[in-house]
Amino acid sequence: MRSVWIPKAGPPEVLEVRESPDPTPRAGQVLIRVRAAGVNFADVSARLGFYPDAPPFPCVVGYEVSGVVEQAPDVTAIAPGQRVVALTRFGGYAEAVTVPAAQVFPLPDALSFEQGAAIPVNYLTAVLMLRHFGNVKAGERVLVHAAAGGVGMAAIQLCRLAGAEVIGTASASKHVVLKEAGVTHTIDYRTEDFEAAVRRITGGRGVDIVLDATGAFRKSYRCLAPLGRLVCFGFSTAATGMTPNRLGAIPKLLAIPFFHPIQLMNANKAVIGVNLGHLWDRIDLLRREMLALLADAEAGRITPVISKAFPLTDAAAAHRYMQERRNVGKVLLTS
Ligand SMILES: NC(=O)c1ccc[n+]([C@@H]2O[C@H](COP(=O)([O-])OP(=O)(O)OC[C@H]3O[C@@H](n4cnc5c(N)ncnc54)[C@H](OP(=O)(O)O)[C@@H]3O)[C@@H](O)[C@H]2O)c1
Repeated sequence: MRSVWIPKAGPPEVLEVRESPDPTPRAGQVLIRVRAAGVNFADVSARLGFYPDAPPFPCVVGYEVSGVVEQAPDVTAIAPGQRVVALTRFGGYAEAVTVPAAQVFPLPDALSFEQGAAIPVNYLTAVLMLRHFGNVKAGERVLVHAAAGGVGMAAIQLCRLAGAEVIGTASASKHVVLKEAGVTHTIDYRTEDFEAAVRRITGGRGVDIVLDATGAFRKSYRCLAPLGRLVCFGFSTAATGMTPNRLGAIPKLLAIPFFHPIQLMNANKAVIGVNLGHLWDRIDLLRREMLALLADAEAGRITPVISKAFPLTDAAAAHRYMQERRNVGKVLLTS
């Protein structure tokens, strides 16, 4: 099988295709012939050497795949020949992968392999932020940063299901698509001060929830109305270019605010952190949510938005595409 390795930190072209024998599943594991693998911003951060959770170099990243089961020794719930989607805790950028059976889910016939691989990370993250923590309700206003990205598009759909209104920040070229997706107000955060825009749009009141993976936490906090919740779940502004730039990231890291409990109390605001990658010991919870999401996708209540699928061997182009901010929805690798 072929897989894509990050041998060292570097630009997209550092990614390397290597051949190796198929992995052998242990008892309780499933061998999946991969048809589609999700690309996440975390993979870009790993390639830049900024992602503390990534395995040491050389490594194969990739959190999610879809494909067909080839072997499933001592597994009763999943059988060879079945179409599945799986959470992979790295190793997904490959033509074959072994995964514990608890992390594997039947892929409904109504969904393509591409749609299946576009669900796990983006939608689970959005579910944790908006339902578990955010308690999003009808009539609330939610500010979604990078709204046209993979997580952003998933979050928009969950907000609309809840009857909440979305204000989205994104590069200007994506605003038409965001409006079509149901976003009521779009903000080009690259040319406009998003805090001033939110104040104007909400008549000075602010929003009820902000989802921020860019790292603009201080300004996002100021956008909250009383009883508002800020969900911090990433720091994409640390990725300043195609090549690693640790020095460039330092001022941004130093600018991360501390939120004092007394200040939070008096403002009636909450600051929340979410990291899906630190919930592997809650596979019971992830399973429950994944099964619900797959049922939602089968019934058409959610629709994964796929921006572009690249051949696995062209993973470098997929990383470059995402870093050039060209994606609207999910980026995939197919094999
Ligand atoms: N904590 C968690 O559990 C968790 C899980 C999943 C994802 N995340 C985080 O959520 C964010 C979104 O992830 P994703 O995988 O769905 O990616 P994504 O949003 O599809 O990422 C690409 C988009 O991010 C925007 N962006 C913002 N800063 C950027 C930068 N410095 N370089 C390139 N693009 C930048 C660009 O859109 P615009 O220019 O239109 O804004 C770009 O198109 C990432 O920060 C990721 O690390 C966290």
